[in-house]
Amino acid sequence: MKGNEEVVKLVNISKRYYLSSSVYVDALINVNLSIRRGEIAIVMGPSGSGKTTLMNIMGTLDKPTSGRVIIDGVDVTDADEKYLTRFRLERLGFVFQQYNLISQLTALENVMLPMLLTGRYTKDEAREKARLLLELVGIGEFANNRPSQLSGGQQQRVAIARALANDPSFIIMDEPTGSIDLASSYLILDLIKLLNSAMGVTFVIATHNMEVASIGSRIIYLRGGRVMSESDLVRIKEEFSKLRVDKTAVIKSYLRILDLEERRLRRLGQDLSEVERKRDLINSFIGST
Ligand SMILES: Nc1ncnc2c1ncn2[C@@H]1O[C@H](COP(=O)(O)OP(=O)(O)OP(=O)(O)O)[C@@H](O)[C@H]1O
Ligand SMILES: [Mg+2]
Repeated sequence: MKGNEEVVKLVNISKRYYLSSSVYVDALINVNLSIRRGEIAIVMGPSGSGKTTLMNIMGTLDKPTSGRVIIDGVDVTDADEKYLTRFRLERLGFVFQQYNLISQLTALENVMLPMLLTGRYTKDEAREKARLLLELVGIGEFANNRPSQLSGGQQQRVAIARALANDPSFIIMDEPTGSIDLASSYLILDLIKLLNSAMGVTFVIATHNMEVASIGSRIIYLRGGRVMSESDLVRIKEEFSKLRVDKTAVIKSYLRILDLEERRLRRLGQDLSEVERKRDLINSFIGST
């Protein structure tokens, strides 16, 4: 496959969750988005802005209320669950905050499973590739440990090895460092960077975390279910920079406080320089506006 092609295209996606027959939440509103092969696309936004909803829709784990979901050029919007189960297995990789490894299986078996489920690997082939994948993510020596015998960061690396097993078109990560310590999360980030730059693995990562965001080739901001454009960001900045308080009233009160302070300090025979400094400061502020 060549670079620069779209692995995901979302066309006018909206998602409405009904809490009752008349109460609903618009988790996504008219989202248009495309992710290209070789990208590390970061999805940021406040809690409740729709990141997880977006990840679930991109991962075919959830259906939009309206709009189209196109993955690898295939419109999967109306595909049934049987088709999607296969589609996910063969084309997508998932790494979530909670590693959702199968607790009864060893690390090795967890990584083997998606290969065996496709029917395209013999058990020996799957075992050998799983071993190599665990080595690749730096935890070869823990192959026989069960998830409960691994640290959070190690479990997350197993999840990455598993996500890589069937050479996915892209890997979806939702808060991948959300529940692991700082040192482990730096390791995970290094690994993502390396997998991307050396092996061309495409990632879509939802995160609150600035360190995670820093490895992205692009940041998509969500706010109230909408994707913010550059011009939206400029508008928000302008809106935010407008003062919502009565500046004149604040200054007037402050100047009177300074007068009072000056009288008090004079009465005590104390140094006035601090009051004068503050008065200079506020005067230059008045002069500048
Ligand atoms: N299954 C659901 N049923 C009803 N409402 C839902 C459901 N899932 C999400 N929502 C609502 O949709 C909105 C978006 O939620 P979502 O989980 O996508 O946000 P998020 O950006 O991932 O937040 P966080 O940063 O907290 O993980 C929220 O208002 C949430 O309450
Ligand atoms: Mg979320």
